Amino acid sequence: MSVHPDSNPKKITTQTLREKKKRGEPITMLTAYDYPTAMAIDQTGIDVVLVGDSLGMVVLGYSNTLPVTMDDMIHHCRAVARGASNAHLIGDMPFMSYQVSPAEAVRNAGRFLQEGGMDGVKLEGGSEKAETIRAIVAAGIPVMGHIGLTPQSVHQLGGWRAQGKSAGGAKRLLEDALVLEDSGCYAVVLEVIPDRLAGLITGRLEIPTIGIGAGSACDGQVLVTHDLLGFMNRRAPRFVKRYSNLYSEMSQAFLSFKQDVIERRFPAPEHAHQMEDEIFAELQKELDPGPRNQES
Ligand code: KIV
Repeated sequence: MSVHPDSNPKKITTQTLREKKKRGEPITMLTAYDYPTAMAIDQTGIDVVLVGDSLGMVVLGYSNTLPVTMDDMIHHCRAVARGASNAHLIGDMPFMSYQVSPAEAVRNAGRFLQEGGMDGVKLEGGSEKAETIRAIVAAGIPVMGHIGLTPQSVHQLGGWRAQGKSAGGAKRLLEDALVLEDSGCYAVVLEVIPDRLAGLITGRLEIPTIGIGAGSACDGQVLVTHDLLGFMNRRAPRFVKRYSNLYSEMSQAFLSFKQDVIERRFPAPEHAHQMEDEIFAELQKELDPGPRNQES
């Protein structure tokens, strides 16, 4: 009898994802950065939870992902790992944690599994990352690739713009995807590239492609959870589908609390702890100094 990883038969593994691609079953992936969100996502049966470095923008308030550190990532990964038991968990390698040398990349990737409770890591980049990916995979750590609009290279790309729109750019991305597969990646994220190019890449690869702003031909789809929930008071990118408007619901709740306190509707008796009448009467008697000595 074979023993399943973590002895949890429901646990999604790299193998599960590969089999889903073979069967043509869509793969679902969302980001999470904290315990309750991870738990809610996991309980819906979403396949993959990514602790994305997007946390820099949607949780920590930076204008891009560049300031995010390894310690930030590990902190959030630990919270997510406590909340999700079935989903496949990916830690996003932050800027400068894998660019300096393959050895440093392996050490940092290891921290995601050893300290963060993740099942694998994701890193951005194409063919130029092949040596690094090989080194991490050789250490027994699953690697998900990420090409197209790679936010850590936002300055090099000249902004948040779609990639692979020219024939040359498209050919480079296809070549990158093939090199990532050859280097040992078990899946690859395609971010903001034309849908037909994503379809072409998906058809050429044996490993699953997960699209974000890359159309419907990918093997799976990922969104930043805060975008999907409408958690932020900002315009979401065009490729996002908003499933709720949490920001407005949250603001409404805060306003209602404020009004209730100001107008003394909260707390109501049902929110308070009651004291029995006899005990309160006794307390009053003890505390009451009685009638003062009256001057005659
Ligand atoms: O950081 C992130 O959330 C990501 C996804 C957009 C794929 O990399």
